[in-house]
Amino acid sequence: MEHQEETLLKVEHLCQYFKMGPGRELKAVDDVSFDIKKGEVFGLVGESGCGKTTTGRSIIKLYDITSGNVYFKGQRICAGTRSYKEAIRAARTAYREKIAALDKQKKEEIEQGADRAQAEELNKKLRTEAEEQYRTAVLENRKLIASAKHDQKFCDKDHAEKVVASFKEEREKALAACSSDEERKKVEKDYKTRLRVASHERIVNRIQMIFQDPIASLNPRMTVRDIIAEGLIIHGIKDKDYIDEKVYNILEKVGLVREHAGRYPHEFSGGQRQRIGIARSVIMEPELIIADEPVSALDVSIQAQVINLLNDLRSELGITVLFIAHDLSVVKYFSDRIGVMYFGKMVELAPSDELFAHPLHPYTRSLLSAIPLPDPQYEKQRRRITYNPLAEHDYSVEGPTMREITPGHFIYCNGAEFEKYKEELGL
Ligand SMILES: Nc1ncnc2c1ncn2[C@@H]1O[C@H](COP(=O)(O)OP(=O)(O)OP(=O)(O)O)[C@@H](O)[C@H]1O
Ligand SMILES: [Mg+2]
Repeated sequence: MEHQEETLLKVEHLCQYFKMGPGRELKAVDDVSFDIKKGEVFGLVGESGCGKTTTGRSIIKLYDITSGNVYFKGQRICAGTRSYKEAIRAARTAYREKIAALDKQKKEEIEQGADRAQAEELNKKLRTEAEEQYRTAVLENRKLIASAKHDQKFCDKDHAEKVVASFKEEREKALAACSSDEERKKVEKDYKTRLRVASHERIVNRIQMIFQDPIASLNPRMTVRDIIAEGLIIHGIKDKDYIDEKVYNILEKVGLVREHAGRYPHEFSGGQRQRIGIARSVIMEPELIIADEPVSALDVSIQAQVINLLNDLRSELGITVLFIAHDLSVVKYFSDRIGVMYFGKMVELAPSDELFAHPLHPYTRSLLSAIPLPDPQYEKQRRRITYNPLAEHDYSVEGPTMREITPGHFIYCNGAEFEKYKEELGL
């Protein structure tokens, strides 16, 4: 599918660890990197518990991420500090080791009859150099920590300030172009309304998530109208007629009707509830929608309807989608690129067609072997491949990293495996 090559979301070494009691951590997402281009559908697949939802929730800032960065439209919206703290610790250890080695060297030189004063002098000079290096490393990483903390906390404020500043500029220009007092009054009134909305503007509002469980994510005490309009109201919009009009429009867009606005979530079917969830996220005019398994809880016929709806909204409103699913068949026709996750790690990332034509990682192959086809002959022969990481990989000598095997096709492997995959592809 066609899309511009502008990067909308960039996830860089994202880590989200959960504390599981003293000294224990669960690495729900561990060093995951990918980017999503504007207008693209990026599919994220993997088995239950591999960290897909956690990735989505981290991107919309429901957590303070452990480490890594997330950039949206070029602005850093999430930033973790763990990697910088570790770098400081590593610099401290390296410094201590260096000092010990220098002292040992000095002692040995003196024992071997070197001039004591000269050895002391040299030792002092090298110690100062090592200390200088250590100090620089600490200072640099402290700066990175401070800036990460700032961005994690204040990215919305910074964004709102930028928006307000751009409105001010527009206002000046509009005022200069006015010829009568009446025109000027109109400009000022417009400006005040826009300013009120802008001061509530949060950059993460441009990202909306459709949650995995449609019933748990809709407040049972609120009517559909209130659920869908909630975001607008929080955004400082007070005009009741404007809100109603928008809610009715969105309801129609997602295949529901006006009359549904006064009902409560329990009065709907699963597919309809999912549509309410979609309406609630679309009304905020997001640029990116994170659809977290929006169809897993639904009947196959309704699955197709909801996917078609998302597809229509995408072409109509130009929304970019991060589509989360646990099964590859769902994302196959809908995604431009697919990332496969396994136990918190991204193990393979490739354009959709390429992934289906040349799956390389054994886990991806096992996922593919699980897809049934409506062909009795094929089904008779279909063999389920099971993935056993301990039997598949030997990472005792060299650990795995993400490597690009053909343009845009990345695979998590070590050097030896990389050569093997290359051979398989005939490269
Ligand atoms: N808030 C939390 N605190 C502690 N552990 C968590 C938390 N949220 C998720 N986890 C754990 O992190 C891991 C990843 O969970 P996540 O919900 O991201 O999986 P998932 O890939 O979305 O799975 P599914 O397909 O079942 O939705 C799981 O082991 C889960 O138990
Ligand atoms: Mg999930």
